[in-house]
Amino acid sequence: MENLESIKGIAYLVSAVFFIVGIKYLGAVRTARKGNFYAALGMFIAVVATLFDDLSFELILAGIVIGSLIGVVIAYKVEMTGMPQMVAILNGFGGIASLLVATAEFSNGKAMELTPEIAAVLSILIGGVTFTGSMIAFGKLQGLVTERAVVFSGQHLLNLVLIIVTLAIGVVISLNPAMQATVMSSIGLGAFDPQGTMILIMIGLALLLGVLVVIPIGGADMPVVISLLNSYSGIAASTTGFVLGNSVLIITGALVGASGIILTQIMCKSMNRSLMNVLLGGFGQTAGAAPAVTGAQADIVVKQIGVEECAMLFDSASSVVIVPGYGMAVAQAQHVVRELMELLEKKGAKVRFAIHPVAGRMPGHMNVLLAEANVEYDKLLEMDEINDDFSNTDISLIIGANDVTNPAARHDQSSPIYGMPILNTDKSRTVVVIKRSLRPGYAGIDNELYGYPNTLMYLGDAKEAISKLISEIKENM
Ligand code: TAP
Repeated sequence: MENLESIKGIAYLVSAVFFIVGIKYLGAVRTARKGNFYAALGMFIAVVATLFDDLSFELILAGIVIGSLIGVVIAYKVEMTGMPQMVAILNGFGGIASLLVATAEFSNGKAMELTPEIAAVLSILIGGVTFTGSMIAFGKLQGLVTERAVVFSGQHLLNLVLIIVTLAIGVVISLNPAMQATVMSSIGLGAFDPQGTMILIMIGLALLLGVLVVIPIGGADMPVVISLLNSYSGIAASTTGFVLGNSVLIITGALVGASGIILTQIMCKSMNRSLMNVLLGGFGQTAGAAPAVTGAQADIVVKQIGVEECAMLFDSASSVVIVPGYGMAVAQAQHVVRELMELLEKKGAKVRFAIHPVAGRMPGHMNVLLAEANVEYDKLLEMDEINDDFSNTDISLIIGANDVTNPAARHDQSSPIYGMPILNTDKSRTVVVIKRSLRPGYAGIDNELYGYPNTLMYLGDAKEAISKLISEIKENM
């Protein structure tokens, strides 16, 4: 038995090492697949080692079969543009799993023996908030719940009171039974079974809090919220690791918690927003509430071109930088974009991609799409790798990107994106923008780039417009 425990301990250590190495490799596009593989291998080792516990295999098998079936079906069906929703659901499931495990451990008394009860209380609290918060985030992105920020007076005060009450209940639950009984009778609730009733109340409050903290945030800000909830789900898993006395769960939970919060910070920084600003709902509310109102681009005079003129521009271009954005994802244009890249290369042009850290609607959105279309990783350049090179570029071809190219971010202090680092496409000799209309993007603001003398608008759905452009260039060859 002791031997088994030490083998399990070593297996957990090995899997933790795989997780850490996996995360390291996930840090760069080129090594990301390897990172995924190592992390999956770590998880496999951890799962196998856990099966050596004294467990009911029928239930585990049933769980694996049902869970895998649902997971495979959803993963195959989900559109690339639906990825944030999928991540929201997965976070939510992580949260509810932590809540259920901690509750079960409480109900069979194990939490009391194994660990400070505070860990189980935290698992329930954070797991519950993560579950309902993630479900609301999913609903907002999927259009099942209003995208708009739901605000009412006294909202923040209500949330604060609920948090204090929930924490107070958590503290009482964490006390030893004698102290609990004393506290309960001192507030006139001696007749209650302190443990069972209070755990149920705490679960209810945690679930309610999850709803209340996410509804005031506009739908457009959901990706940041989802990243934050991802971090919460990791923290909940980590505290559940303490409840179960399971070291690998503590480590993986901590890794998810830490990387989720780092990602949240990176996203906020790339959007030049504070986390507080996101959580209080200001910016997302504007963008979510009024997507097309300023679409007339009132003071901006644009120059529109057709496919023939656009194709001719590429005749003499020797360096082209493609800037993909959310519109490329919506149009699912990544495959025709690769075709265009190959065609231009065949004509002797140097073609590269400029990837803004928050282009699209989720971290790595553009990288994933372009990788799916087999665009080589070394053609994808990050903002700081390409920004100084736009001045040596003949054509910047912007495909369904908007905010990440808006020069107002540099100088217009009244702009909601002021201070956000952008791609310097305006510095290139010619800018060609492919989008369907003059409507704004996520931030809900006009893009002054469209009125610049070196900018030409080739309007249309990205996939259609690029397909036509490819045919036209081929005809001219
Ligand atoms: P956006 O500024 O949102 O602009 C996307 C543009 O794509 C729109 O203006 C839209 O114009 C166009 N479009 C939509 N469907 C199209 C189609 N079928 N064909 C062609 N064009 C189409 O996108 P972006 O430049 O990628 O910037 C991302 C924004 O999202 C930033 O503001 C960022 O802060 C925010 N954000 C990003 C993330 C992450 S992690 N990526 C998370 C949260 C928020 P039309 O309607 O005229 O076609």
